[in-house]
Amino acid sequence: AFPKQVRLVEMSPRDGLQNEPGPVIATAIKTGLIDRLADSGLSHIEAASFVSPKWVPQMGDAAEVMAGITRKAGVRYSALTPNLKGFEGALAAKADEVAVFGAASESFTKKNINCTIAESLERFAPVVEEARKHGIPVRGYVSTVMGCPYEGDIAPEQVATVAKALYDMGCHEISLGDTIGVGTPIKAKRMLEAVAAHVPMDKLAAHFHDTYGQALANLYAVLEEGVSVIDASVAGLGGCPYAKGASGNVATEDVLYLLNGLGIKTGVDLEKLVATGDWICSQLNRHNGSKVGQAMGGN
Ligand code: HMG
Ligand code: MG
Repeated sequence: AFPKQVRLVEMSPRDGLQNEPGPVIATAIKTGLIDRLADSGLSHIEAASFVSPKWVPQMGDAAEVMAGITRKAGVRYSALTPNLKGFEGALAAKADEVAVFGAASESFTKKNINCTIAESLERFAPVVEEARKHGIPVRGYVSTVMGCPYEGDIAPEQVATVAKALYDMGCHEISLGDTIGVGTPIKAKRMLEAVAAHVPMDKLAAHFHDTYGQALANLYAVLEEGVSVIDASVAGLGGCPYAKGASGNVATEDVLYLLNGLGIKTGVDLEKLVATGDWICSQLNRHNGSKVGQAMGGN
C-alpha cells in the first residue's frame, strides 16, 4: 500500500553539484540554494560532502557551506563522510546527520572510494561508532543497486548483503542508489523485496537517478511497496561529465507533483520549489531538468 506521507531528502546541493563541470561554484550560490530549499518546506537536505577535494573539487568548501547556511528549525542538514577524517569535518561543521556511502559492486567501490566493499565497511564502522558517541544519526548509501557501469547486472542479494551490513552497523536509514539510472519498475520491486527481507521497509529510501528516464516509474513501483523516503534533486541537477548520458537524481519537482497527485503528504510547497529550481538554473546557466519545472517555471 502507498504510504500516507513521504519524506523527501533533497540531494541537489551535494549530488546535484558535486559533478558540475567548470569552475568551483561560489559558496554563496550553494548556501542560497540550501536556504531556498529549506524555505520551500524540505525538512532533510544533504548540504555538503566532506570528501577529498582532489577527488571532488566542487565539494571542497563543505565547511564554509555548513557555516554559511541559515539554519531553519526542524530541518536536518546532512553531509557525506567517507571516513573518520570526513566525520571530524562534519562534526566541527555541526552537521545534523552524516552519511557513509558504499556500493553493491566491487568495481564501483574501488573507483568511487578506492577500496573493496569489505574495506569500506571497516572504514565506516568507526564513523558510525563516533557518530553514536556524539548522538549524530548516520545514513548509509548503497550504490549501483540496479546495475553497475563496470559490472553490469547486480544481484538483488548482493544489494541486500551490503544494505544489511550497514543497517546492522547502526545506520538508521539505508538509501538504495540506482546510480546510473538503469533500473525498471519490476527490477526495482525485486531489488527492494530482497533488501526488505533484511532491513525494515520504513528504514529504506529510494535514490534513483534518471539517466534512462525510468526514475518516476521506478518510484511509483517502490511507493506501492511502502517506501516512504525519497531522494531527489531540484531541477534534476546532477550528472557526471565523464559518464556518457549520466544524469542527476530524479527532479524533486516531478516527484512532488506525482506525490501530490497520489494524495501523499510531504509538507513541501511546489511553487516555491519550482522557483528554487528556476533560480539555481539561472545562477548556473543550466538547463532545467525538471518537466514540472519547465511547465510551471518562469524560464
Ligand atoms: P584515498 O586516496 O584512498 O584516501 O581516498 P587516503 O586515506 O589515502 O587519503 C588520500 C588523501 O586524501 C590524503 O591527502 C588525505 O588527507 C585526503 P594528501 O595526504 O594526499 O594531501 N583525505 C581527505 N580529505 C578531505 N576529506 C576527507 C579525506 N579523506 C582523505 N574525508 C577517499 C579515499 C574516500 C577519501 C576518496 O576516494 C574520496 O574522497 N572519494 C570521494 C568519492 C565521492 O565523493 N563520490 C561521490 C559521492 S558518492 C555518490 O555520488 C553516490 C550516491 O549519490 C548514491 C548513488 O547515487 O548511488 C551517494
Ligand atoms: Mg547519487
